[in-house]
Amino acid sequence: MTTTADPADSPLVRAARGEAVPHTPVWFMRQAGRSLPEYREIRRGTDMLEACRTPDLVTEITLQPVRRHRVDAAIFFSDIVVPLEATGVDIDIEPGVGPVLDVPFTSREDLERLPELTPDMIPDIAESVRRIVLELGPTPLIGFAGAPFTLASYLIEGGPSKNHELTKSLMHGDPQLWHDLCARLTQISAAFLKVQVEAGASAIQLFDSWAGFLSRADYREYVLPHSRATLAALADSGVPRIHFGVGTGELLTDMAGAGTEVIGVDYRVNLGDAIARVGGGMPVQGNLDPALLFAPWEVVEREVRRILDEGRAAPGHIFNLGHGVLPDTDPVVLTRVVELVHEVSSR
Ligand code: CP3
Repeated sequence: MTTTADPADSPLVRAARGEAVPHTPVWFMRQAGRSLPEYREIRRGTDMLEACRTPDLVTEITLQPVRRHRVDAAIFFSDIVVPLEATGVDIDIEPGVGPVLDVPFTSREDLERLPELTPDMIPDIAESVRRIVLELGPTPLIGFAGAPFTLASYLIEGGPSKNHELTKSLMHGDPQLWHDLCARLTQISAAFLKVQVEAGASAIQLFDSWAGFLSRADYREYVLPHSRATLAALADSGVPRIHFGVGTGELLTDMAGAGTEVIGVDYRVNLGDAIARVGGGMPVQGNLDPALLFAPWEVVEREVRRILDEGRAAPGHIFNLGHGVLPDTDPVVLTRVVELVHEVSSR
């Protein structure tokens, strides 16, 4: 099979559509990050959110893992809270902690102060995407956003949370405010994704990282309608959509039905089981345990082969980790995983 230089015909996009591929495509969540010495070097002295708004840095950091590992896709270097900050939310990303707010979201007045996101608030994002796409040539760029629930959790908790108790309290205590907040976050997420797609991203991933903290009943009533609306806003964009959350084994069928071409699978669910759960008809992404990259190579190799084997039961498989690259991962192991995936799956 020949592949053209068009990223829309790349192995990643083809696998996402369930079409035949020359090899299983592979990329890593958080590939553009702290495990790379060249990343730490270029980030020195620049605050994370400032880096995300500087096209020179965003372009270089997005390309670093593609050059080094020869992955089949780039993931846009940004963060799920970038569109919130762009609307004026006072938010920071603390090293080793993640997004934090001094004044968390509590009330209707807070919602009234949260405007919609318009493209003129993020011209730098479009510029970064255009530059990256030019540099990437045939390699696709994946755009992304946080799903409404995960964004709401950061706003309401004021930072990372172990139990999400303030979020659940607002969700159940004032369902109208909850749904109105999520409707606004749907607009913000969808607008952030559209800017990336219109500037040339070839696929998008919607991260609902913390959805695994919810019961299925709560997920269906308070979260799924908003994720569905966010994904639906991209339905006519022409690019495949990937939907991923952590600890979402129990929610997988609901998430798979949210209006996505590909379901991302975290490392707690066996890939073969995940494929069976969603009915076998849907392309999947995943799901090597990122902690296993610290184990002896024989273990990594066995796992990669098993996951590739199980992935054959789906109409398409995008190889990835079951969550992000851990900061202390040896980048050499990541490169070896890419080589192994390509070698084993080539046909
Ligand atoms: O390589 C990539 O995946 C691209 C860039 C990317 C970042 N964040 C960069 C980043 C992506 C796709 C994200 C998404 C993101 N951000 C999610 C969803 C994915 C997931 O992990 O579930 C979430 C929940 C966030 C919020 C957030 N931002 C967290 C939890 C953290 C990590 C805190 C830490 O330092 O451990 C951040 C900061 C962040 N985002 C870093 C990077 C490279 C680290 C910043 C640094 O170098 O100081």
